[in-house]
Amino acid sequence: MKRAVVVVGAGPAGLTLANFIQQSGIDCIVLEKSSRIHVENRARAGVLEHRSVAMLESLGLADRLLATADRHGACEFRVNGQSFQVSYSDLYGSLQHFIYPQQEVVKDLVAGFLANGGDIRFSVSDVELRNLASSTPSIVWTSEDGTRGEVLCDFVAGCDGFHGVCRKAIPSTELTEFSHYHGVEWLAILADAPPSTKAVIYALHTDGFAGHMLRSPTVSRFYLQVPVGTKASDWSGERVWNALHKRLSLQDSTWSLTEGKIIEKRVLDMRSYVVEPMSYGRLFLLGDAAHIITPVGAKGMNLAMNDAVTFGRALADYYTTGSDVGLKTYSDDCLRRVWRAQEFSQWMVNMIHADVGSPFFGRLARARLEHLASSAAYQASFAENYVGP
Ligand code: FAD
Ligand code: PHB
Repeated sequence: MKRAVVVVGAGPAGLTLANFIQQSGIDCIVLEKSSRIHVENRARAGVLEHRSVAMLESLGLADRLLATADRHGACEFRVNGQSFQVSYSDLYGSLQHFIYPQQEVVKDLVAGFLANGGDIRFSVSDVELRNLASSTPSIVWTSEDGTRGEVLCDFVAGCDGFHGVCRKAIPSTELTEFSHYHGVEWLAILADAPPSTKAVIYALHTDGFAGHMLRSPTVSRFYLQVPVGTKASDWSGERVWNALHKRLSLQDSTWSLTEGKIIEKRVLDMRSYVVEPMSYGRLFLLGDAAHIITPVGAKGMNLAMNDAVTFGRALADYYTTGSDVGLKTYSDDCLRRVWRAQEFSQWMVNMIHADVGSPFFGRLARARLEHLASSAAYQASFAENYVGP
C-alpha cells in the first residue's frame, strides 16, 4: 500500500489535518490506537478560539458547532470573596470563545472525513515508523484482528499525543527538549451539573485555586488546586463540593453553586513541554506530540489545530507547486505561536496560584491581579492573548 501521507493519531491534530488534506485532494490514511467509541467520548478541552472555529467553518465542518456552542466574551476573577470581570471580547475586536467539548469536535471531524471516503484504522497497535530520513518512509502496525499492515508514504504526520511513538522515533541527538514543571497540581472534575455561571470563573482562595469552566447546559468542568502528590481517590464527592463551595464563594452575594453527579476526576500535573524542531526527515510532529501546555488559558486544542492547518497548507503547496518552502518553515511557523501561548499560560499560572515558588512570587501574583483588576491597558493585553490575536 502507498499513500501520500500517513497520519498517526486521531485526536484534534490528526483529524483536522486528515480533513484538510483530503479536501486538497491529498490521499492519506489515519492510524489510531483507540477505538472510535473511545476517541469520540474522551472529554478533555472545551474552549475553541475564533481562529479554530473559522478554520472548521472553511472546511464545512462547523454546522453543529455553530448551532449549539455557547459564545463567551468575559471571564471572572474571584479573590478571597471579591470579584471582577474582564470583558475580553469588548477589549479585543469582538472576538469570542466558543464552548464546544473536544469530543464533539472529534465526532464532527471523524464524520466529515469518513463521509468523503476517508480511511481511518481504529484500534491499531504496535505502530512502528521506519526510514524516516529517506524519501519513502514506511509505517507498520497490527490491526484489531491481529494482521500486520504496512504502508509506504511520502510524509508521516505524528499526531499521537505526548505519550505516542512518533516523537520517540526521532534520534534524541536531533531534538532539543524544553520542559518545565510548575509545582502545582489540579484535580480536574467533570460533573453532571448545569453551569452556575455564564463566564469562566478563576477563584483565588487561601486554600488554593478553584476554577468553574463550562461545557454544556448540563455538564460543567471544575478545577481544584490540590497538594502536590494527591491522588484523585483522596477526594470524595463531598470533599470536592465542600472545597468548591468554599473557594468559589462570594461575600455579599446570593450567588450559589449547583452540585451534580461527578462523572470524572483526575489529577493533572501542570507541566509544559516543547520540542524543537517539530520535524525530522519526512516526519512532522503536530499538537501534543510536539508540545504540551498547562490547561490555564485553554490553548492546547487550539495549538494542535493550528499545527494541522500549517502542515496541511505546506503539503497542499508541495503537491500543487512542488515547493517545499512551507515544509521547511513548518516548525518555526508553529513554534512562534506555541511559545507565545506558553508565555501567556505561564503568566496566568503565576497569577492564579499565589503560593507557587516562594512568598515573593505570592506578592508578585497579588500585584499582577491588582493591575489586571484596575488597568484597562493591562486588560486589553490580557484580552489579546486570551482570545487570540
Ligand atoms: P490527542 O488529543 O492526545 O490525540 C492523540 C491521539 O493519538 C489519541 O487519539 C491517541 O489515542 C492516539 N495515539 C497515541 N499513541 C498512538 C499510537 N502509538 N498509535 C496510534 N495512535 C496513537 N486544550 C484547550 O485548548 N482548551 C482546554 O480547555 C483544554 N482543557 C484540557 C483539559 C484536560 C483535562 C486535558 C487533559 C487537556 C486539556 N486541553 C485543553 C488540552 C487538549 O485536550 C490537548 O492539547 C489536545 O487533545 C491535543 O490534541 P492532539 O490531537 O495533539 O493530541
Ligand atoms: C476549560 O474549559 O477547561 C478551561 C478554560 C479556561 C482555562 C482553563 C481551562 O483557563
